Amino acid sequence: MKIGIIGAGNIGGNLTRRLTALGHDVSVANSRGPQTLTALAEETGATPVPVEEAARGAEVVVVTIPLKAIPNLPAGILDGAAENVAVIDTGNYYPQQRDGRIAAIEDEGLTESAWTARQIGHTVVKAFNGTFAQDILERPRPAGDPDRQAVPVAGDDEAAKRVVRNLIDELGFDTVDAGTLADSWRQQPGTPVYGLREGVAGVSKALAEAPRERPADFRA
Ligand SMILES: NC(=O)c1ccc[n+]([C@@H]2O[C@H](COP(=O)([O-])OP(=O)(O)OC[C@H]3O[C@@H](n4cnc5c(N)ncnc54)[C@H](OP(=O)(O)O)[C@@H]3O)[C@@H](O)[C@H]2O)c1
Repeated sequence: MKIGIIGAGNIGGNLTRRLTALGHDVSVANSRGPQTLTALAEETGATPVPVEEAARGAEVVVVTIPLKAIPNLPAGILDGAAENVAVIDTGNYYPQQRDGRIAAIEDEGLTESAWTARQIGHTVVKAFNGTFAQDILERPRPAGDPDRQAVPVAGDDEAAKRVVRNLIDELGFDTVDAGTLADSWRQQPGTPVYGLREGVAGVSKALAEAPRERPADFRA
């Protein structure tokens, strides 16, 4: 598949490594420009591009930048993407440590991914937000392996969610359908599933046990 990755940090870098290894055609962008991504490009064979071009022709786009940087993305960032592009959002809201106060999340009660979808003008599929970046490289397992970890996946577009779940399976992880973007508070920071290294049963149980209220550590 043609995949665009916006953000080349811990998560974006490791997804670039794994997705190129699987044979996908990956374009990758950061905020400073493609000239700063030559080492990653040489290592992986991915194509470094300006952020404006990251989604061009892409069937899957991964948005994996700090939440506070989402409003800085160029307008129309997904305009050149393939029809029915699936947009993966790995983001988390860390108001105290990183992102500052985001009023629509705090006051309107929008989930983090619903806020991101509104900002970029396109629905997203929330995935990998609670997965340690290193695990993407170090913990893939074949289907059926008893130690295979599961990733919760939330989204409103069922077709896009299917594409993302199939891709995550290819990456070596099971998935659990965590509902819609409105339901995705169940996998936000501070919930039982966040950072949980378990399989389908453990992840399903943790999602079901999530308390509705945003934990104090993750409020502004
Ligand atoms: N680290 C983890 O283990 C982990 C796990 C799950 C989820 N997450 C979440 O996933 C997101 C990304 O985390 P991360 O740890 O990978 O971040 P990171 O290591 O800090 O990397 C952020 C990347 O985003 C790029 N970026 C920032 N602003 C941008 C812009 N306006 N346009 C294009 N690129 C931009 C940065 O580019 P420059 O370097 O050029 O500025 C950098 O490549 C966060 O929301 C985080 O909470 C992280």
